[in-house]
Amino acid sequence: MGSMATGATTRLTVRSPQGSYPIHVGAGLRWRLAEMGAPHGLRGRVVVVSSEGAAAEHAQAVMETLPQATLLTIADGEGAKNLATVERLYSQLIEAGIQRDSTMLALGGGVLGDTAGFAAASFLRGIRCVQMPSTLLAMVDSSVGGKVGINLREGKNLVGAFLQPAAVILDPELLETLPAIEWRCGMAEVIKHGLLADEELLAPRWLKDGRPAASDLPELLRRALRVKIDVVEADPFEQGQRAHLNLGHTFAHAIERVADYRWKHGEAVAVGLLAAAQLSERLGMCAAGLAARVEQVLERAGLPRRLEAGMQAGALYAAMARDKKWVSGRSRFVLLRGIGQPEVVWDVPADEVVAVLRALGAS
Ligand SMILES: NC(=O)c1ccc[n+]([C@@H]2O[C@H](COP(=O)([O-])OP(=O)(O)OC[C@H]3O[C@@H](n4cnc5c(N)ncnc54)[C@H](O)[C@@H]3O)[C@@H](O)[C@H]2O)c1
Ligand SMILES: [Zn+2]
Repeated sequence: MGSMATGATTRLTVRSPQGSYPIHVGAGLRWRLAEMGAPHGLRGRVVVVSSEGAAAEHAQAVMETLPQATLLTIADGEGAKNLATVERLYSQLIEAGIQRDSTMLALGGGVLGDTAGFAAASFLRGIRCVQMPSTLLAMVDSSVGGKVGINLREGKNLVGAFLQPAAVILDPELLETLPAIEWRCGMAEVIKHGLLADEELLAPRWLKDGRPAASDLPELLRRALRVKIDVVEADPFEQGQRAHLNLGHTFAHAIERVADYRWKHGEAVAVGLLAAAQLSERLGMCAAGLAARVEQVLERAGLPRRLEAGMQAGALYAAMARDKKWVSGRSRFVLLRGIGQPEVVWDVPADEVVAVLRALGAS
């Protein structure tokens, strides 16, 4: 484990109207937080927020590096991404003596980063937050761009804020404990980034045994991050181009809802990406063969390509119609003119969408 601890670190910069921030990528960075993090507020009064489960082990390492910090732990899982968790966290922050000039280090997957980040955005009208993602999905997607938030009973991510992190600290060694299913789910978002803007991310070399080799990981992270950074820099407050990051997600959110969240987000995204490619082909937007290509990449990544038996096309369509991005009943999809050419398309005929759902196994 420690062998790469002194390896090179890469610094990427994200420009934002609320201030620019760095993403530091380097194996073993968790042992160098005091030095790396000091310019970003990781000195003085610091609170580390992490979740129960595997991230807890990494929190121990972080606490060795930042001995003056207070460690707070919240429950694990999407079910804990809610106001009750945030409210408990507010009380614990007060108890820990956290003040306006204190800094939070949010250590964990996307659920932790979104929940703790939302607490940071609102506590005392906002305290500094450094994101330290511990899943592949959080590293290439959720920790960058400043969107933080929680779920309501009525739907996912319905309450939130924009809080640009003071810095993102990304230690690829944290992924050594990540279960195979979480790798695959993270790769679904990497494949999405590849379809949006970097065809090289679709290459078989990243997926030899269903996941990238440790030596390829830094490059994979850098490439996938580049796509996310370019999109959020062009559209920091999600008024235009950032919608492209929803490629496959209108389908995915409907699948998650109809499956009552028994499907993992990344698995639903995989089928959603295939559905978006098939819909693009049906509408004559892209050359034939794109969907077959997407299907092959997903297969190589060990991700699902079919809906669950018994899922109803009508129920899936109804779930899509509740998407917060569909305005006054008009359907909206992110589709592809080709790899690297996403486009927002309004008013796609319902029967075309249903035909795609049927082709993917819906009844
Ligand atoms: N803010 C954004 O822009 C944005 C973008 C995409 C997704 N998201 C959000 O991200 C969330 C999904 O994130 P996720 O996929 O990371 O899920 P997650 O945070 O639930 O993590 C998945 C599982 O992995 C465990 N885990 C975390 N780090 C680990 C490690 N190093 N080793 C072993 N296990 C570890 C967690 O405890 C959890 O059980 C969703 O809530 C989604 O809405 C937000
Ligand atoms: Zn996603």
